[in-house]
Amino acid sequence: MSSKFEFEINPNERGYSVIKDADAMNHNHKSGHVYTSAEVYEIEKKEIFYKDWLCVGRVEEVENVGDYITHRIADEPIIVTKNKAGEIVAMANVCKHRGVEVAFGEGNTKNFTCPYHGWVYDLDGNLKSALHLEKETFEPKKCQLPHLHVDTWAGFIFVTFNKNPKPLLDCLGNVEEIYGPYQFDRMRMAAKFPTELNCNWKLLNENLTDIYHIAVLHLDTFGKHQPLDGYRFETTPQGGYHGRFIGGALVPGGESLFGPIPWLPEELKSGGYSSHIPPNMAFFPRFDNLSCSVNWPIDVDRCMGWTYIMFPEEHFSQPNFKEKVKVYEDFYKAFLDEDTEMILSLQKGLKSQYYGRGPMSPFEAGVAGVIKHNIEDIGTSD
Ligand code: FES
Ligand SMILES: [Fe+2]
Repeated sequence: MSSKFEFEINPNERGYSVIKDADAMNHNHKSGHVYTSAEVYEIEKKEIFYKDWLCVGRVEEVENVGDYITHRIADEPIIVTKNKAGEIVAMANVCKHRGVEVAFGEGNTKNFTCPYHGWVYDLDGNLKSALHLEKETFEPKKCQLPHLHVDTWAGFIFVTFNKNPKPLLDCLGNVEEIYGPYQFDRMRMAAKFPTELNCNWKLLNENLTDIYHIAVLHLDTFGKHQPLDGYRFETTPQGGYHGRFIGGALVPGGESLFGPIPWLPEELKSGGYSSHIPPNMAFFPRFDNLSCSVNWPIDVDRCMGWTYIMFPEEHFSQPNFKEKVKVYEDFYKAFLDEDTEMILSLQKGLKSQYYGRGPMSPFEAGVAGVIKHNIEDIGTSD
């Protein structure tokens, strides 16, 4: 390990479990059906994706009035936008005429005009005009795009399809306490890119909390700058997972191109956290940047997600900022490709008659937590 990245971890700090003392979590499901069954997928949509708060991006993506982003989450296309009052709103992206999506991709607009028959909605989803339909013959007020609950935490936007959701912070657990010093809301998105994979959505989540594979699969990328020594973690009653590691920056060679986030306390100026908030958010605050991955199912064996890479706002005016960010982005994509190959192979392996999950190492506590939350807690396991 390079001395540059040496980091003394006090095992008692914050009461984290020291990794060697952690229970190996053995979940010996014999069948991989929870990753392949259409029936299980239907339960997951209902019990997870249509109930929980879901991270769908960053507030800076809808910074100005009329900025919008769209996502297709399971069977639900949504729009997130900023209305004239300056509020972030989230709506079903399903035209009240025949059901076509009224917005695609992302951009800035004054109205959402459905491309099929031209119905026009304002930024709050109110129907403003419907070609060749007399207002006397129908009730435009009944044709508003349905709103979803929306909230933010630390610059991240969350939505939920749940009509009576719990407060967002109740579901996030002790994140303020752990990540407060990083001040995520002072970080700005420098890059984002999509990922679409032919696998069950759970495998991507599990992979993103798997520390066990880092020194093996990622040996040629970031693995050699992120030793397992001293790794420690905690899980939360809400299904969250927060693992503290030492290590370098996510660039070739491991040495940051920017230096530490200026406002970080000394004890956080190395390595970072590998974190998961169920059901679909993995984030990685490091000493020099913040990256985040959100993902959701498209179908039982197809998922998609977005990766966001963020830096302190003051770095954006540095010379060569874009070139430096490109180095981070390319590196991220390189190790994500390494992960992708494994996940796709795993999706195949799960269907084999010989598949059975074996004992898991303590370094897979995050994976076990994700499995427990996503599979066992909703009763889809063997
Ligand atoms: S489906 Fe949108 S206007 Fe017809
Ligand atoms: Fe990985």
